[in-house]
Amino acid sequence: MARITAGIATSHVPAIGAAIDLGKTKDLYWAPVFQGYEFVKEWIKDNTPDVVILVYNDHASSLMLDIVPTFALGFAEEFQSADEGWGRRPVPVVKNHLDLAAHIAEQLVIDEFDITLINEMDVDHGCTVPLSLVFGQPEEWPCKVIPLAVNVTQFPTPSGERCWKLGEAIRNAVKTFPEDLDVQVWGTGGMSHQLQGTRAGLINEEFDRRFIDLLAHEPEELKYITRLEYLRETGTEGIELIMWLIMRASLGYGVEEKKRFYRVPASNTAVGHVVYEAKS
Ligand code: DHB
Ligand code: FE
Repeated sequence: MARITAGIATSHVPAIGAAIDLGKTKDLYWAPVFQGYEFVKEWIKDNTPDVVILVYNDHASSLMLDIVPTFALGFAEEFQSADEGWGRRPVPVVKNHLDLAAHIAEQLVIDEFDITLINEMDVDHGCTVPLSLVFGQPEEWPCKVIPLAVNVTQFPTPSGERCWKLGEAIRNAVKTFPEDLDVQVWGTGGMSHQLQGTRAGLINEEFDRRFIDLLAHEPEELKYITRLEYLRETGTEGIELIMWLIMRASLGYGVEEKKRFYRVPASNTAVGHVVYEAKS
């Protein structure tokens, strides 16, 4: 049987990808950010999964205004890194695990999540920056990746509660896949940040630290943070944190927190990162 063994959450700031690609990780500005990822880069060597279900959001790179799926599962054989205006990132192609993706799609629909299937798309920094932060710069990504895109850019965005339930449904779907697979779920984005408007540059460290404090062992109240609260407290882009809830819910009740990291700033964002191992 397949099982979800661990979860990772991390911000997916595009400038972090550029810093890696341009060899700037040891620069004064970037070194303290990358320091926070030393643990996971070692940990993953002993905990490389067969498949990562990578929960992220597309930033109008592949999913524009013409189609706005709330939850979309990547269903192509592979996904190129998107050209976000300065060329494709020089990273390996992301390869899917189609049998598991098909099983998850079917189980989610049975579980009343009418998931959109995307047969062709490129993946942007939301997907590739977390892969680079965890795996570094390999020739090939060392595992299969099922991208799961969540709409956090166009109203109406899903609620935290709905995301929590999706995480639970993913957990149930993975558990019933007959092949013996080690699966991780990653949640990306956040923490507080606002990229435009009069509050551009907003960071709410108190909110972010509390979110990390509660996520491992007392995530209940985080489910009920409303979209308006995310907007007010964490800026227009802070709602990316709902993707961390999908990751957390997919791990079940008990987790062991192996790492937490928080750093302000990286680009315009408060960078947060956690590593959890599932207990059951
Ligand atoms: C930044 C952060 C994001 O999450 C994103 O999608 C784009 C930009 C930033 O901090 O610059
Ligand atoms: Fe983002």
